[in-house]
Amino acid sequence: MGDVLLSMEGIDKSFPGVHALDRAQFELRTGEVHALVGENGAGKSTLMKILAGIYAKDAGVLLYRGQDVDIPNPRAAQHLGISMIHQELNLMNHLTLAQNVFVGREPRRGFGLMLDESKINAQAQGLFDSMRLRLDPRTKAADLTVAKQQMVEIAKALSFNSQVLIMDEPTAALTDAEIEELFRIIHQLREKGVGIVYISHRLEELKRISDRITVMRYQIFTRNLFERRTSPVLPSMWRDVGGRGGPTRRGGSRRRGGVERDGHGDARTADR
Ligand SMILES: Nc1ncnc2c1ncn2[C@@H]1O[C@H](COP(=O)(O)OP(=O)(O)OP(=O)(O)O)[C@@H](O)[C@H]1O
Ligand SMILES: [Mg+2]
Repeated sequence: MGDVLLSMEGIDKSFPGVHALDRAQFELRTGEVHALVGENGAGKSTLMKILAGIYAKDAGVLLYRGQDVDIPNPRAAQHLGISMIHQELNLMNHLTLAQNVFVGREPRRGFGLMLDESKINAQAQGLFDSMRLRLDPRTKAADLTVAKQQMVEIAKALSFNSQVLIMDEPTAALTDAEIEELFRIIHQLREKGVGIVYISHRLEELKRISDRITVMRYQIFTRNLFERRTSPVLPSMWRDVGGRGGPTRRGGSRRRGGVERDGHGDARTADR
């Protein structure tokens, strides 16, 4: 793990009737896979969508490479090098893989009237080759497995020179072999210094892939409790991550928007 790439502090977000995030905080370093876990509805996707410019935060600070930044839309996020691969994939089925990767910014020829297919195909092929993906850029997205579509989404993110890659439950629809392929690519990206946020409910995967884990519960994060990389994840934290039905709730009923804290705070980050 390298330097701090981004930090989110005091992030608040409400939807009508739901206080989804209450002073949430999160930190990502270069070249780390930082797992973000927690029960359904804890606010994981919401927090990351704020980072990806999909939702606007109501309050809080977002520091990217030490600078206070505003991310009003996904384009701004892309510009900063922040990409998100969503729970639901976003490729356009009727387009080729190359067209999907470069949609909206295709090189043109013939006075800008014609798509320069050979150019985008070559560029996409270069990208796939660099990821050691055996894919033909001229294939239609509809003809790909979900796993391969996901790889194309990652390739697309890399084509924006992404330094932060957020993966929201990336393995939900993958076979074991496909998960191995995804992990290979994640390792490759980590080696290049990309910071990866990995949202998952799968304990075994998290143990294998993550450098740090933040457990999110009651929509609140607190300071990282475990700073040393060598410190083991405490058994109690694994119970939070994977124990019977996800993180435990303490103290009875859960209040949306309320401030409920146990003695340790409500989210904990551990290094593996
Ligand atoms: N667009 C939205 N409009 C209204 N409420 C929303 C919206 N997006 C999220 N929420 C609510 O905010 C809370 C946090 O949801 P979020 O999807 O961030 O949780 P999550 O941790 O990603 O859960 P999961 O593990 O099920 O994906 C939930 O109560 C959810 O219903
Ligand atoms: Mg989610």
